[in-house]
Amino acid sequence: MKSQQKCIVIFALVCCFAVLVALIFSAVDIWGEDEDGITEENCSKNCRAMLVENIPEDVSFLDNGTFHVPLSVGLSNLLDRATRVVEIVSPLWLLNSSEYESSFQPAARQGRVLLSRLQDLKAKEIHLRISSGESDCSELNTLAKHNAEVHYVNMTALTKGHLLSSFWVVDRRHFYIGSASMDWRSLATRKELGVIVYNCSCLALDLHRVFNLYWGLQYKEFIPSFWSKRLFALYNRDKPLDLSLDNTKVQAYISSSPDVFIPKDRTNDLEAISRVIQEARHFIYISIIDYLPLLSRNAQRYWSRVDSLIREALILRKVRVRLLISCWEKTEPLTFNFVWSLRTLCMEQANCSLEAKFFNPRVQRDGSVQGINHNRFMVTERAIYLGNLDWVGNEFTFNAGAGLVISHPEGPEERNSTVVEQLRATFERDWFSRYTRSLQANKIPLCNKQQITRPVSMKASHTDDGPAPIRKDQRDSGPAPMRNSHKDSGQLGLKPRQHEDRPNKISYQDMANGPVPVLDQERGQVKMSFLDNKQVQLKVNHHDSLMETLSQSAESSGSRELSNRSL
Ligand SMILES: *[C@@H]1O[C@H](CO)[C@@H](O)[C@H](O)[C@H]1NC(C)=O
Ligand SMILES: *[C@@H]1O[C@H](CO)[C@@H](O)[C@H](O)[C@H]1NC(C)=O
Ligand SMILES: *[C@@H]1O[C@H](CO)[C@@H](O)[C@H](O)[C@H]1NC(C)=O
Ligand SMILES: *[C@@H]1O[C@H](CO)[C@@H](O)[C@H](O)[C@H]1NC(C)=O
Ligand SMILES: *[C@@H]1O[C@H](CO)[C@@H](O)[C@H](O)[C@H]1NC(C)=O
Ligand SMILES: *[C@@H]1O[C@H](CO)[C@@H](O)[C@H](O)[C@H]1NC(C)=O
Ligand SMILES: *[C@@H]1O[C@H](CO)[C@@H](O)[C@H](O)[C@H]1NC(C)=O
Repeated sequence: MKSQQKCIVIFALVCCFAVLVALIFSAVDIWGEDEDGITEENCSKNCRAMLVENIPEDVSFLDNGTFHVPLSVGLSNLLDRATRVVEIVSPLWLLNSSEYESSFQPAARQGRVLLSRLQDLKAKEIHLRISSGESDCSELNTLAKHNAEVHYVNMTALTKGHLLSSFWVVDRRHFYIGSASMDWRSLATRKELGVIVYNCSCLALDLHRVFNLYWGLQYKEFIPSFWSKRLFALYNRDKPLDLSLDNTKVQAYISSSPDVFIPKDRTNDLEAISRVIQEARHFIYISIIDYLPLLSRNAQRYWSRVDSLIREALILRKVRVRLLISCWEKTEPLTFNFVWSLRTLCMEQANCSLEAKFFNPRVQRDGSVQGINHNRFMVTERAIYLGNLDWVGNEFTFNAGAGLVISHPEGPEERNSTVVEQLRATFERDWFSRYTRSLQANKIPLCNKQQITRPVSMKASHTDDGPAPIRKDQRDSGPAPMRNSHKDSGQLGLKPRQHEDRPNKISYQDMANGPVPVLDQERGQVKMSFLDNKQVQLKVNHHDSLMETLSQSAESSGSRELSNRSL
C-alpha cells in the first residue's frame, strides 16, 4: 500500500517536472534582449520610403518616369547607415558568383561586392545577424567565420516548408523588404522590387520581432506552444501604425506567414492580402511570379482564399483587376485555366474587368527559357502589399514569409504622392511594356520547353528526363511546390546550384560597358542626397535635371549601373 502511494507521488512529481521542462523549452524567449532603448512609446514615425529595383541589363523600359534606385545601391546605402547591428533573413545565400558566371555576366559582380561589404562590417564593429533555413551553406559558413552570427531554422522539422522571408533590419531603425534574396541573380539577371524604409524605428522594431522569432527558433524541432511577449506584434490590420511617410499620413503594419509562426496580434499574410483587396474600390493590380489556387501536400485541394476575394471584388464591387504573372520555367499550365476562369466571370457584366498578362521569359542560347520578373506585390488606389511569398496555397501554408502593408487612410482623394502611387506607376510601366503578352482564349502560353514536348498534368514529375536547364534551380525563384508533387510538396530537397543561371545573351558582353563599377560610399550618398532633398512626387514629371540624367543614362546604356559622370 505504502509503496503504491510512493509510486503515485513520484509519478506526479515526474509529471510536474516534465510539464515544467516542456514549458521552458517550448517558450521562445530572448533573454536579456536589448532593444537599444527604442520602445513603442518613443520610436520614430517620421519615415521615408524608397522603392528599389533591379532591372536586368537586357530589359529596358521606355517610360522614364518610373526609374527607381537600383537595389544594389539601396542595400549598399543601408549598410552605410548601419552603426550597431544588421539583421538579415534570406531564402538563399549565393552572392558569390563563380568566375565563370561573372565572366559572362558582368553585373554578377555586384553580388560579390555586397558580400565583401557584409564582411567589412566587422571592421566597423557592426554585428551581423543572419537567420537562415539552410543548414549547410558555404557562403554562410564563410560569413560565420568572418563576423556573422548565423542561426539555423529547421523548417523541415517545424512546418515541412521553407524559410522564404527576405528582409533586412538595420539598427532597428531602417529596413528593407522585397522580392530579392541574397543571390547574385537578384542583383543581376532578375527583375526584383523592394522597398527601403528609413528612420522608421516603429515599423523596424516590429519587423525585428519577426526576425527575432526566427532567431529564437534555432535548431528547434518543434514549434513552441507559446511565444514570448517580446515577439508579439506591435501593429496589425486592426491596429495599424499611423505614421508620416514622406510627409504624408499613412497607416502601415507587418504581416507574416505561416499561421504556426504567428504570435499574438500579428496579422498573417493572407489576412493582410484580404484586407487590401477588400478595401479596394477602383482597381487592384497584382504582379506575382505564380498564381495558383491549389494546395497540395498528399492530395490536391482547391485553395480558394485569394481566388474568391478576387471574384468578389470583380462581381460585387466592380473593382478593375489586372494580373501580371511571370511566365517562367516552372509556370504551372493550370495557372492559365484558373486565370481564364476569372476572366470569363466578367462575361456580359457591366463594369467588370479582369485583365491578365504574362511577363515573358528570357530565351537563352541553348533555347531554354528563364523567368525574368520576380516581383511580388499588389497595389490598389489606396494601398500596397509587398510580400515574400507567391500566391499559391502551399506557400502561405508551409513557408515562412513576411509582408508590408502601407495604406492611405480613407478620405480625400487629394493627397501627396507616396510609394503607393510610385508602385502603381511601376506596375503600369511593366504592364504596357513590350515584355508582356495578354492571355488569349483557349490558348495556354508556352512558358517552358516541357510544355511543348509534353503537355503537363499536375502530377508531372520533374525528376525524369527532359531539357536540363529548365527545372534545376528549384530555389531560384522561390519554390514552386506544385511542380514537385512526386514528393512532399512543401519540401524541396534540391540544393541551389551555382551554375544554373547561364548568361542570357551573348550580346551582353557588347552591352556592358567594361567592368562593373564598385558601389562605394560616395555613390550611395550621392543617390541618397537626391532622395533626401527632393520629394519624389509622381504627378510632377521629373523635370529635375539630375533625375533626367540618371534615368537617361540608365536607359540608354541599358544598364542600371550609373557612371560616375552622370552623378
Ligand atoms: C525610450 O524610452 C526608454 C524607456 O521608456 C528609454 O530607456 C530610452 O532611452 C528612450 N529612448 C529614446 C531614444 O528616447
Ligand atoms: C567566393 O568564391 C571564390 C572562388 O570563386 C572563393 O575564392 C572565395 O573565397 C569565395 N568567397 C566567399 C566569401 O565565400
Ligand atoms: C531538421 O529536422 C529534420 C526532421 O526532424 C531532421 O531530419 C534533420 O536532420 C534536421 N536538420 C538539421 C540540420 O538539424
Ligand atoms: C533620418 O534622420 C536623421 C536624423 O534624424 C537625418 O539626418 C536623416 O537625413 C534622415 N534620413 C532620411 C532618409 O530621412
Ligand atoms: C502633403 O505634404 C505637405 C508637406 O510637403 C504636408 O504639409 C501635408 O500635410 C501633406 N498632405 C497630406 C494629405 O498628408
Ligand atoms: C458602370 O460605370 C459607369 C461609370 O462609372 C456608370 O455610369 C454605370 O452606371 C455603371 N454600370 C453598372 C451596371 O454598374
Ligand atoms: C524618355 O527618354 C527618351 C530618351 O532617353 C526620350 O526620347 C523620351 O521622350 C522620354 N520619354 C518620356 C515620356 O519622357
